Amino acid sequence: MELLNQLNTQLRALDERSLIRKRRTVDTPCGPRVSVGGRELLAFCSNDYLGLANHPRIVAALQEGAALYGAGSGASHLISGHSRAHAQLEERLAGFVGEHLEAPRALYFCTGYMANLAVLTGLTAGDKNSDIFSESLNHASLIDGARLSRTNVKVYPHADLEALAALLAASTAATKVVVTDSVFSMDGDLAPLPELLALCERHGAWLVVDDAHGFGALGANGHGALEHFKLRSPYLVYMGTLGKAAGVGGAFVAAHEIVIETLIQKARPYIFTTAAAPALAHALLTSLDIIEGPDGVARRAHLRTLVAQLDAGLRLERWRRMASATAIQPIVIGDNAETMRAGAALYEQGLWVGAIRPPTVPAGTARLRVTLSAGHTGAEVAQLITALNALERA
Ligand SMILES: Cc1ncc(COP(=O)(O)O)c(C=O)c1O
Repeated sequence: MELLNQLNTQLRALDERSLIRKRRTVDTPCGPRVSVGGRELLAFCSNDYLGLANHPRIVAALQEGAALYGAGSGASHLISGHSRAHAQLEERLAGFVGEHLEAPRALYFCTGYMANLAVLTGLTAGDKNSDIFSESLNHASLIDGARLSRTNVKVYPHADLEALAALLAASTAATKVVVTDSVFSMDGDLAPLPELLALCERHGAWLVVDDAHGFGALGANGHGALEHFKLRSPYLVYMGTLGKAAGVGGAFVAAHEIVIETLIQKARPYIFTTAAAPALAHALLTSLDIIEGPDGVARRAHLRTLVAQLDAGLRLERWRRMASATAIQPIVIGDNAETMRAGAALYEQGLWVGAIRPPTVPAGTARLRVTLSAGHTGAEVAQLITALNALERA
């Protein structure tokens, strides 16, 4: 069929540019050691930064949640799918990040992708001439949210406060929204949030912070980037994901209660989808207990030690390290095919590291994205360091 031929030609073109993506089927729970096709691998590619995805207390809470609430929610939140577990989780999340906001309220979403679509479309829904100012390295879900909002989108260069200030000063829109990742997902560096917030307050703009990679991992209590930077402002709209450091799934938006009410009333990615299984929300209550408690504090401290170990141990000459103090430690190789070969060579040695190519990262910056987890041991990180140092010289 001609239509299939067209698709096949497009797939072959991707393959020729080393851009075909392949899934690997994992037979074991997420953790430092996983089994794929009968082989045990040491994995440095998940976003399970605190090692909670297979934590026995959270697994037990998930089972308890299923016993209490069943397998599925059965409907969207605004019909009959909003369960007691969702309500409890939202209360708890509002308290978790609430000291950084005014009149805080939280809203639980099935995924961070949907939360980002909801925030950007919801905040701009009432104003056709709103301006969204989007950081150039933002996650795809923010880019898509900005597109879906069908309003003006101005992209400012990475961490370029002057460029953003000029764009804000030139804007005549009544609704201005600045949106940024807190921890850049493919680079690992932090956005200059205090300076961004000062700019937003000066220009009367919302600051939407996507803390997908900071929630649970940053801040003394794991409350994320707002705690790390000690920020507080009614201009903040916060998005945290719950499938990375929190180890379960879903996401939430926390903001002034009027913002949250606006999302409930207007944000289509919130309204027109079945609510996540209540058991997930129930399990997340235990995850939050762990993140805030002594175990969470110890896990974050261990993670910092592993980041320092990797930093001290890598001796790379050709490949470029990014300046990152977070669990995301990218090594930029540049060429797509060479990046794939490096990933495959590590895999042969039993080390699984994500090989990331465009369009996830800009052309010419393909990279190995090493992610560390509190579940790793120092010996496991030492094994990775030895392998990477040797591979670069091979
Ligand atoms: C920065 C960022 N925002 C949002 C998301 C989407 O979150 P989720 O995986 O919960 O859909 C991700 C990752 O997937 C991310 O890295």
